[in-house]
Amino acid sequence: MLAQVNLQKEARRTFARLLPRLESEFAAATATEAWATFRRRLDAHFNDLFDLLFTLYGDRYDFLYHLERLLAEAAQSWLERPQPLQALDAARERDPQWYQSEQMLGGVYYVDLFAGDLKGMRAKIPYFQELGLTYLHLMPLFKAPEGDSDGGYAVSDYREVDPRLGVMDDLRALATELRQHGISLVLDFVFNHTSDEHRWALAAQAGDEDFADYYFVFPDRTLPDAYDRTLREIFPDQHPGSFTYRPDMQRWVWTTFNSFQWDLNYRNPEAFRGMAAEMLYLANAGAEVLRLDALAFTWKEMGTNCENLPKAHTLVRAFNAVLRIAAPGLLFKSEAIVHPDEVARYISTQECQLSYNPLLMALLWNSLATREVRLLRHSLGYRFAIPDDCAWVNYIRCHDDIGWTFDDGDAGALGINGYDHRRFLNSFYTGRFPGSFARGLPFQENPRTGDARISGTQASLAGLEAALRSGNPGEIDLAVRRILLLNSIVLSVGGIPLIYLGDEIGILNDYSYIEDPAKTGDSRWVHRPRIDWAQMARRSDPSTLEGRIFGGMQHLIKLRKTTPAFAGNDMRVINLGNDHVFAFVRTGRQGERVLVLANFSEHTQPVAANEVRLYGLGYRFHEMVTQREITLGDEPIVMEPYQVMWLAV
Ligand code: GLC
Ligand code: GLC
Repeated sequence: MLAQVNLQKEARRTFARLLPRLESEFAAATATEAWATFRRRLDAHFNDLFDLLFTLYGDRYDFLYHLERLLAEAAQSWLERPQPLQALDAARERDPQWYQSEQMLGGVYYVDLFAGDLKGMRAKIPYFQELGLTYLHLMPLFKAPEGDSDGGYAVSDYREVDPRLGVMDDLRALATELRQHGISLVLDFVFNHTSDEHRWALAAQAGDEDFADYYFVFPDRTLPDAYDRTLREIFPDQHPGSFTYRPDMQRWVWTTFNSFQWDLNYRNPEAFRGMAAEMLYLANAGAEVLRLDALAFTWKEMGTNCENLPKAHTLVRAFNAVLRIAAPGLLFKSEAIVHPDEVARYISTQECQLSYNPLLMALLWNSLATREVRLLRHSLGYRFAIPDDCAWVNYIRCHDDIGWTFDDGDAGALGINGYDHRRFLNSFYTGRFPGSFARGLPFQENPRTGDARISGTQASLAGLEAALRSGNPGEIDLAVRRILLLNSIVLSVGGIPLIYLGDEIGILNDYSYIEDPAKTGDSRWVHRPRIDWAQMARRSDPSTLEGRIFGGMQHLIKLRKTTPAFAGNDMRVINLGNDHVFAFVRTGRQGERVLVLANFSEHTQPVAANEVRLYGLGYRFHEMVTQREITLGDEPIVMEPYQVMWLAV
């Protein structure tokens, strides 16, 4: 407590000392309104920033120097921030919870695979509007190594677009045009690592010790061996352990992911400042949300698994504080695909306002396989709640694999053995389990630990691929229903629904990646096909499969966008006594309520009327999906196979 008070005093003293220095450095600007705004924000957030940086770097003799340079960088960035973005900052400050609206709908895909390049992407804006997107995440589009670049997650230059996609001005123009159409651009902030071709890494390779210190470079195996004892292997197929030997340097480098992705060393304040500058650059290019890639891995301590450490949080908070000062309209989205307790710790307005919801994702697939909602109901019953001013990003598929990141304690409470159950799920979703409808591929199967994750498109995992092969119309129908069921949950549960583009027309696995040497070792490419626009065109023909799925999605999306009960996070899971039916109540800001019922089995399921009555939701409902009025009598509500009901109370 006393330490805290002293730190705050120290922060104010430092502020008083640094401000005049900053004002003399920016003397030409200090009379402007922009400077007054900067000063106001600096004043409001300086203590936080000081505190966070002190935690990370307070023991360094040059702490104040780094702090001052960081503030100068922030000031410069703010003064250069394009006027429309400054206006956006002000608008977001007036409406800080804009992302909680029922209007929100996200989409994500690769620029090259969707539309060729950035100009092509602009031409697709009418499609995004047709779909109803308000948020568009473009997968990494910066300069990256030729060949395998982990789908662009090995960035060689944060200020240069991959030349095959265009140039920075194309990106700025796209951001502006999207914004004019009510769509926020989301970009990755890949800050755990750079590629080994980034200029810092190149300098390190050339023997520059200052730049070697931006990374974790070791003369021999002593420290890597010591760290490896407690680290988890993330990509064991690519390389065992987390370190890579560089014959050119005769040294070992920390590489959590692929050998060409060098982890940054945030113990070095130069690395922090360097990445903060790249972040501000992305902000000024027009990104409205930054997806914090692999944020769980950014801080390392000997003897730990180097995931989710307290200082990984401090680091994100420090970046966040820099944004509050220099680009406050921006949001962070957490990409923590880890244990649900750890996922939750990244979510707050001081850290990440938005977060992927990997638990919901994994448990939806779990329920689809088991036809049971017990684990979903139990886990979400107490794990869905997050701070009011934050939001989940709810998704069914993304560019990555599916990992079964549920809590073993949650499973154990229901008599489910987590280890065995994960094996079952892997067997089910690779189609090995007898009777499975799914056609997925294993990802990073580790024979030593028995661990694996799953690749595959939504449609292939939900049974469409197998059904089409069998040609059985009944099976096809069930697959379409499963797809719409999953989507109905993410569209109603609370938060931003995120569509992995292509899923809205039921794109299947594409096995051709095996022929591409840069992709063949990574099964995630099976669900990253090039979008076929002839197939896309069939979306408007309801007699086609694409049309059925797209039409079904459109219907749900339109309903979502006109249902205020779907805004915000207020979601209460309820148990209506049928383990195949997932049920929850959504409540909007004005008290509007919707009861959602979702049948996860291919059989009709009854929901007892008296169970519904217990929750005091009244007797008369408007079922929004089928536009029917339902009056509760003594008879149960009967749900069709995989049916979802949105019951307005
Ligand atoms: C994130 C990305 C994944 C990538 C990894 C390393 O998890 O989603 O695609 O492989 O980070 O950057
Ligand atoms: C990627 C990997 C995933 C891993 C995650 C960590 O998403 O595919 O399995 O856990 O990175 O961020």
